[in-house]
Amino acid sequence: MTNFSDNFALRGRNTFGLDAEARHWAEFRTAAELRDILLRCREQGLPWYVLSGGSNIILTGNFPGAVIHPAADGIALIGPGLVRAEAAVVWDDLVAWSVERGLGGLENLSLIPGYAGAAPVQNIGAYGAEAKDTIETVEYFDAATLETVRIPKEACAFGYRESVFKGSLKGRAIVTAVEFRLTPEADGKYAYNIGYGDLHDRVMELGGPSLRNIRQAVIAIREAKLPDPAVTGNAGSFFKNPVIPAAQAAELRERYPEMPGYACNGGAAVKVPAAWLIDRAGWKGFRSGTVGVHPKQALVLINLGGATAQEILNLARRIICDVEQKFGVTLSMEVNIL
Ligand code: EPU
Repeated sequence: MTNFSDNFALRGRNTFGLDAEARHWAEFRTAAELRDILLRCREQGLPWYVLSGGSNIILTGNFPGAVIHPAADGIALIGPGLVRAEAAVVWDDLVAWSVERGLGGLENLSLIPGYAGAAPVQNIGAYGAEAKDTIETVEYFDAATLETVRIPKEACAFGYRESVFKGSLKGRAIVTAVEFRLTPEADGKYAYNIGYGDLHDRVMELGGPSLRNIRQAVIAIREAKLPDPAVTGNAGSFFKNPVIPAAQAAELRERYPEMPGYACNGGAAVKVPAAWLIDRAGWKGFRSGTVGVHPKQALVLINLGGATAQEILNLARRIICDVEQKFGVTLSMEVNIL
């Protein structure tokens, strides 16, 4: 029987550094252990929540049930270019592992915080790549049937920071492992992806495209723009980049010709950087009490020390209202709220 640790402090388990307690904390390594935990929750009528790396969450208070935490962190090459990572593999360790072995596909996603098990849930993305580009199969434990299930990427309903795990399988599927289809760099056929922003120039400065150079360049860009959660509490991008109708984007461009945007949905819509809207609205570097907006990336809200979830959410609401008034665009949150 797996152990429940009672009144477990979550402060060190969320990158925002928020103070909260779980009534119980339960770690699992195997499907049998997870089954035990879920059965115990069922018997005791306890709610449960899966917290892995804690890098994309706001804890609004103490959790009255069991916080379930994956602990298995094996990485294995299970076929040519096919890599299986258990849920608790630290995401960037997986990226480093694959780059060291000359396997391409994850290098643009270097230094994203969190665990591999969260990659399909959020469909994490950066610098022109998303987890969905390489995910082949997701293995999860179904809390309703208490069975392990494997689904191919086509069944994951991947979208921009979206998946079936945030949709119809929410509260039911607990990701236990992810399999990625990677491409050997040595084949000479791998298409490096360096078109995004200043990545191309950084990679060229390092001597041209290679998995190692892309990883190094991405790490340098991220370290320059994003706060280190070990120093300043944050959850990465706080809002999603809004997708607005092309006509609305055209109107905004008349007022703000310099507004960046990327055509999507075959040209019917435009994805506008939320960071630009927030920055242009004057919030970049804003500080109020214990919370603020990161001075180098307006999309990142920061804990200046001792912030509460309410203070962060109040700041988020003020930003949402202001951006709505100024641009007629409604921002939605990218972080999860518990
Ligand atoms: N910009 C500003 N002000 C700022 C920051 C950016 O005007 O303070 C403008 C830039 O000039 C640029 C545009 O906004 O034209 C986009 O900025 P950036 O390339 O930094 O990316 P982003 O759209 O703000 C997204 C992801 C990040 C990811 C980066 C790089 C979302 C919600 N965020 O941010 O992901 O690292 O692209 O690919 O899609 C995360 O999800 O937690 C995250 C950090």
